[in-house]
Amino acid sequence: MSATLLLLAALPSALGLARPDGVGTLPALGWNSWNAYFCDVNETKLLSAANLIISLGLKDAGYEYVNIDDCWSIKDGRDNTTQQIIPDPNKFPNGIVGVASEIHNLGLKTGIYSSAGTKTCAGYPASIGYEYIDAATFAGWGIDYLKYDNCYVPGNWSDAKASGDNYNYSTSNTAERYRIMRDALVAQNRTILYSLCEWGQAKVWTWGNETGNSWRTTGDITPDWNSVMSIFNEQTFISNYTDFTGHNDPDMLEVGNGNLTLTKTRSHFALWSLMKAPLIIGTDLSKLSQENLDILLNKYLLAFNQDAVYGAPAEPYKWGVNTDQTYNRTNPAEFWSGDSSNGTIVAMLNTLDSTRTMRADFGEIPGLDADGPYKMLDAWTGESAGCVKGGLDAQVESHDTAVYLIQEYCEC
Ligand code: GAL
Repeated sequence: MSATLLLLAALPSALGLARPDGVGTLPALGWNSWNAYFCDVNETKLLSAANLIISLGLKDAGYEYVNIDDCWSIKDGRDNTTQQIIPDPNKFPNGIVGVASEIHNLGLKTGIYSSAGTKTCAGYPASIGYEYIDAATFAGWGIDYLKYDNCYVPGNWSDAKASGDNYNYSTSNTAERYRIMRDALVAQNRTILYSLCEWGQAKVWTWGNETGNSWRTTGDITPDWNSVMSIFNEQTFISNYTDFTGHNDPDMLEVGNGNLTLTKTRSHFALWSLMKAPLIIGTDLSKLSQENLDILLNKYLLAFNQDAVYGAPAEPYKWGVNTDQTYNRTNPAEFWSGDSSNGTIVAMLNTLDSTRTMRADFGEIPGLDADGPYKMLDAWTGESAGCVKGGLDAQVESHDTAVYLIQEYCEC
C-alpha cells in the first residue's frame, strides 16, 4: 500500500460522524426523562418538561432536546405485521408521533431510547436484528435523537476476550452492534443524533467518534457526590477523545436531584460543561429551585461547552492534592484550564472537606504570561475580578469549583 493509501485507510477512525446541519458537532443540550422519572414516563410529563424548558428560559439558553428514555412501549412483542415496536397507549395515547409533533410545535427536538440487544434494560422490546425497521420507525415518528443502550446482548454477540493493549476495539462485536444502528440511522431521510450508551465498554472512546456523536464512558450516575467524582475522575484520562462531532458522555445531569448541595451541584455542572459533555438535564423541572436553574443557565459555562471555534475540552494543568496524577475517585485533578472564544477558562475544584485558598497562578496555566496582567471575570457571579497580576487567590468551599475567565491584557 502506498503512503497515501495507508494514510487514507487510517483516516476514518480519526474522523467524526459528519451529520447534516451541524447536528452533533457540539455537545447536545437537552432534557431526558430517566433521572427524573425512571420508568414512570408519559406524554404529560414530556410535554410539561418541554413547556418548562421554554418558560424557564432553558430553550433560549440552547437546550433543545426533550428525550424519552426507557419504558415507552408495550412490553409484549412487536406489531405482527409491521414488526414495529408499539408505543404504550396508556403512557402515550397519541403515540410517539403525537408527542414528537407537539414538541416540534414548541420549536424543540425530541429523542427516544432503545438497546443494542433483545430487550431494553427495563425489559422492553429492543433493536438488535430490527435496526433498519426501528430506525425507519423513529424517523417516521419525527425522532431527532437516539440513545442506544447495551442490555440483553445475545450470546453470539459477546466480545472476544481482548488480548492486550494493542487490541483494536473497533473490531469488537460491541462496536459492530453500534455500527449497524449507525448505518440504519444514516440511511434515513432524517437526521437523528446518535448517542451511544454502552457504559464505556470495549474502549468505546477509541471508536465512538466514527460511530456516533457521543458515547457514554461510564456506568450510571446517581445523585450523590461520590458518583459525580468517580465519573469525573475517569474522564480525566480520556479527555483527548472529545472534540467537534464526538464527545465523551459522563452521563446525564443530576442537577436538582438527590442530596447534592448547591456547591456540589455547581461543581457537577461546571465540570460537565468543561469536559464538553452533552448537558442533558434529568430532573422534574416544575420543582427546580431558582439556584439550580441559575446553574443550568450559566452563560459562561454554556458558552465554553458550546464554543463554535474551540472543540477541545478543558484539561488539568495541575492535579492539586492528587500529586501522583493517578486514578483517584476521591481527589480527582483539581486545576483545569481550556481555551475558548471568551478567553482562557480556569476552574479550581476543591476536593477536600474544608474551605481552602486555591491559586490560579498564571505561570502554571498553559498559554498565559506569568505576570499578565489580565482582566478576570468570575463565571459564577458574572462580576469582574479586576485587573490581576501574576495570579488570583480564591477561597473555595469544600466540594465547590471556582470558575474564572481570563480575558484580555490590562494595565494595573
Ligand atoms: C441504563 C442507562 C440509563 C438508563 C437505563 C434505562 O443502561 O445507562 O441511562 O437509560 O438504562 O433502563
